[in-house]
Amino acid sequence: MQARREFIKKSTIAATGVSLAPNFIFAAASQKSKSKINVGLIGIGLRGTNHLNSLLLRNDVEVTAICDVDSTRIGLALNAIATAGRSKPKTFGRNDYDYRNLLALGNVDVVVISTPWLWHTKMAVDSMRAGKYTGLEVSAANTLEECWDLVNTHEETGTHLMILENVNYRRDVLAVLNMVRANVFGEMLHFNCGYKHDLRGVKFNDGKTAYGKGVEFGEKGISESKWRTAHSLLRNADVYPTHGLGPVAVMADVNRGDRLLSLTSHATKSIGLNKYIEETGGKDHPNAALDWKQGDIITSTINTSNGETIIVTHNVNNPHPYSLGFKVQGAQGVAEFDYHTKRIHIEGTTQGHGWESMDKWLQKYDHPLWKKYGENAMEAGHGGIDFFVINALVESAKEGTAPPMDVYDAAAWSAVTPLSEASIANNGEVQDFPDFTRGNWIKKKPYNWMKDNY
Ligand SMILES: NC(=O)c1ccc[n+]([C@@H]2O[C@H](COP(=O)([O-])OP(=O)(O)OC[C@H]3O[C@@H](n4cnc5c(N)ncnc54)[C@H](O)[C@@H]3O)[C@@H](O)[C@H]2O)c1
Repeated sequence: MQARREFIKKSTIAATGVSLAPNFIFAAASQKSKSKINVGLIGIGLRGTNHLNSLLLRNDVEVTAICDVDSTRIGLALNAIATAGRSKPKTFGRNDYDYRNLLALGNVDVVVISTPWLWHTKMAVDSMRAGKYTGLEVSAANTLEECWDLVNTHEETGTHLMILENVNYRRDVLAVLNMVRANVFGEMLHFNCGYKHDLRGVKFNDGKTAYGKGVEFGEKGISESKWRTAHSLLRNADVYPTHGLGPVAVMADVNRGDRLLSLTSHATKSIGLNKYIEETGGKDHPNAALDWKQGDIITSTINTSNGETIIVTHNVNNPHPYSLGFKVQGAQGVAEFDYHTKRIHIEGTTQGHGWESMDKWLQKYDHPLWKKYGENAMEAGHGGIDFFVINALVESAKEGTAPPMDVYDAAAWSAVTPLSEASIANNGEVQDFPDFTRGNWIKKKPYNWMKDNY
């Protein structure tokens, strides 16, 4: 916490060259923008708490209201707010719909939603209707109807929604985006991405500790196992596409000059969760008899209007190191980058037919945000990316402009879930993406991601 506070302070001072009074630390980027905003949080479980901590670091934010149906989470959040020396917010959570009383408050400008997936669209729609600038966790929606609900509500109300995809702010992701924009790879052809992360210890627990123990879920589990695991039982779909797709969709100018056209998806058999339950809880545990619908590895191939392809993988039910498996390929070269492997081949630069390390490329194309907040950002949550995503939400809201990742992105990226489900159910049948922009993708210019403020 102290380190993060120091980071904000140092980086701002470094950026402005002067020492500033605390309330001006995040001074407005433009004359028109508000200097301070009030934020309400709905859902302060593990993720909501990350967001709360990022918000409490900022002198341009007041957390005026929090809502969670779990009173333990409210207590923990109130402690964190008091420890940060901030005023006590109004609290909500008497029932599942008490969040609507938070939305009725006049002193809430921005709402951050970090609840289970089935609540996302309902809460975001209500939030936009209440005129609140809305930050929504990933994935945004579960069905095509929900995707349209988000878009229609934004268009009816004029209120903005930002999908809080933090991976878009990873240092290597932003550097590669910079390289794509600088034409290092030439004209783009193909991308690989996905979510490969052993979630067995998240999907099951003993009802007391969030990670790694026990084989309970639903009412007998806690944290994500309470709600996330049911999706594996009931849906054969890529239920978590945006950590991979978000970054490459931006590189491919999706919704801004290009768009996702169609996909085809296939799933392997489902064995990982059953094996885990048997080995951890025993063959006689009642959960060992369950029939999991979700295939262990789901592969979707998307084609875009500009003739590019994107392979998205969902692979979370077996042993696998954390990997989003990024690959970007153009007519001039190719890069593969993950947390541990970063390699590139650029024609005319890389010798022979092998790979070279990406180190010097990542340095050369380091993103202005990372150059500015650099070293110290690494000390913030998830290696800095949680800070950057909340920073983008707050700064866009202060300016009252559309966020970098908007409601159309939320809809298009999240649509992979229902479309992959339909494709798998029909032996890989091609599914068309709706054009959530209603044709506007043709004239919309790419967002300027290369700024150093957000
Ligand atoms: N971007 C990331 O890196 C990242 C990481 C983790 C989770 N997430 C996303 O964040 C969201 C939340 O995940 P989590 O790990 O915090 O789960 P969690 O189960 O720890 O927290 C969810 C919270 O929502 C509360 N809640 C449920 N229904 C509610 C209602 N009607 N009103 C008010 N509160 C309600 C629960 O009591 C709980 O505290 C999910 O969408 C998840 O996919 C994103």
